[in-house]
Amino acid sequence: MYSLLHHNTFGIDAWCRDFKEYVSIDELHSLLPELKTSRWLHIGRGSNLLFVNDFDGLILHSGITGFEELGRDEQYVWVRAGAGNEWDDFVACCIDKGYFGLENLSLIPGEVGASAVQNIGAYGVEAGQYIDKVETFDTETGKIRVFEKAECQYAYRSSIFKHEYKGRYIVTHVVYRLSLTFSPDLEYGAIVRELQAHDINPQTVTAKQLRNLIIDVRKSKLPDPDEIGSAGSFFVNPVVSVEKFESLKKIYPDIPHYTLDNGVKIPAGWMIEKCGWKGRSLGPAGVYGKQALVIVNLGGATGEDIVRISDAVRSDVREKFDIEIYPEVNFIV
Ligand code: EPU
Repeated sequence: MYSLLHHNTFGIDAWCRDFKEYVSIDELHSLLPELKTSRWLHIGRGSNLLFVNDFDGLILHSGITGFEELGRDEQYVWVRAGAGNEWDDFVACCIDKGYFGLENLSLIPGEVGASAVQNIGAYGVEAGQYIDKVETFDTETGKIRVFEKAECQYAYRSSIFKHEYKGRYIVTHVVYRLSLTFSPDLEYGAIVRELQAHDINPQTVTAKQLRNLIIDVRKSKLPDPDEIGSAGSFFVNPVVSVEKFESLKKIYPDIPHYTLDNGVKIPAGWMIEKCGWKGRSLGPAGVYGKQALVIVNLGGATGEDIVRISDAVRSDVREKFDIEIYPEVNFIV
């Protein structure tokens, strides 16, 4: 038995039967017989999952690190990073070397492998925009399979690895295609406002300045997983029909929203706040006071405590807005 307390950012003291960190593809290959016979789960930093119960199986973690430049042309550089690299170390390293594109994704807790599975996103940028290839280990055949970006089916917080191929392919390396010239993505309104508030001219902002600003914004809104247990955004922002949005707008003229091709995205955090949950708790679990999309472990919460508050929040949102919100966090039962 092995405690997972330090392997999930929620800080849930769940147990697993066995835990293995492998450092090479050969080592992963040697685990194949066990993967075929035992229940297993691959984790990154455990920043997007909730252990609802103990896990009667093997937990795998990648210790494949390393970072190499594969090539470049006039505009782009291709970099290959091991899945086990800390995501933010990778972002910092890219910026230091003059490889641009990932600045807005600074400080997201997690690892490089998970970035390609989750299609992590923040402040108008998603990892999938910059991914070129994803190298994986096929747990059915024991062979390496390289997915081209187009095969990964990237969409909001989603990829083929989360759906059709869930539990089959283990990401070993990710190849990112980054830009050699810095062209900041400042589409996300709050970022330009923050730049102005910091007296930084959006026309001349540097990549390091943008990274530092994103870090400040995240720190001001989201709990530091080393201090307060959470999994970042707990729910996915729902997309509703234009008709549904119009009817809500009559009641809430200031409703924040983003218009998409397939409907209108409403921030779940706004609805949760309107339901009066921001800063409220239920036993040892709470809704974070600075960002209602985040559920926090106030100390000693179990996975079931988190599920209880999640259900209560969902039910209130359903009752008030007639909208179903779904956890983004992966429940491990
Ligand atoms: N809002 C409220 N009350 C709240 C929270 C949000 O009214 O308590 C409103 C804000 O005022 C704003 C809107 O909702 O008008 C959106 O809020 P915010 O910019 O904080 O973003 P979000 O939609 O709540 C998403 C991501 C975050 C990411 C931010 C910034 C998802 C599920 N979450 O949150 O991702 O950092 O945008 O891009 O899409 C994560 O995945 O862990 C994460 C933190």
